[in-house]
Amino acid sequence: MKKVLMFLALGGLIVGCGGKEKKEESGGFEMKRSKTEEKAADTSEGVPVDMNNDGVGPFKDISFSNEVDAELASAGEAKFSSICVACHMAEQRMIGPALKGVYERRSPAWVMNMIINPDVMLKEDPIAKALLKEYNNAIMLNQNLTEDETRAVAEYLRTL
Ligand code: HEC
Repeated sequence: MKKVLMFLALGGLIVGCGGKEKKEESGGFEMKRSKTEEKAADTSEGVPVDMNNDGVGPFKDISFSNEVDAELASAGEAKFSSICVACHMAEQRMIGPALKGVYERRSPAWVMNMIINPDVMLKEDPIAKALLKEYNNAIMLNQNLTEDETRAVAEYLRTL
């Protein structure tokens, strides 16, 4: 619902600016956008931050317990090291984004849906679509993880 409202608001803004000179129009839009993204931890310009977005897939309303589950994280690390490192590093942008601090810009459910369901996310989710653009249309391939494996990798990402 919040998402819908945000789209309506943005839509209204564009329509609202319609009568004005072109330069002003994009200026107003950018200003409004950077305001919403003020607290963005993401270094990538133009990729929205919306912690209420759970993405598209089986995971909804996930919250982590305070303590990291070390056993689960280490199972996740094994998986990560075998398949994700082809495109991701913790602190440096590679083919895909650096994943350290990912939960400061994405909700846990969003991250897990991105891991388990990237093909659909890249087509339907506004953040994933913006990331795809930011990363020069490099496709995050579906690694066919199970929900349990995804949960383990998600736990590992907390430790980065
Ligand atoms: C073939 C390269 C590739 C592989 C393998 C890959 N990714 Fe990605 N990943 C990407 C790219 C590229 C993006 C940015 C979206 C896009 O362009 O598809 C991304 C985005 C992400 C994001 C969103 C990051 C953010 O800043 O919001 C997460 C989380 C993620 N990947 C986790 C993983 C995990 C975990 C694995 C292993 C199970 C993995 N990825 C495997 C390429 C890859």
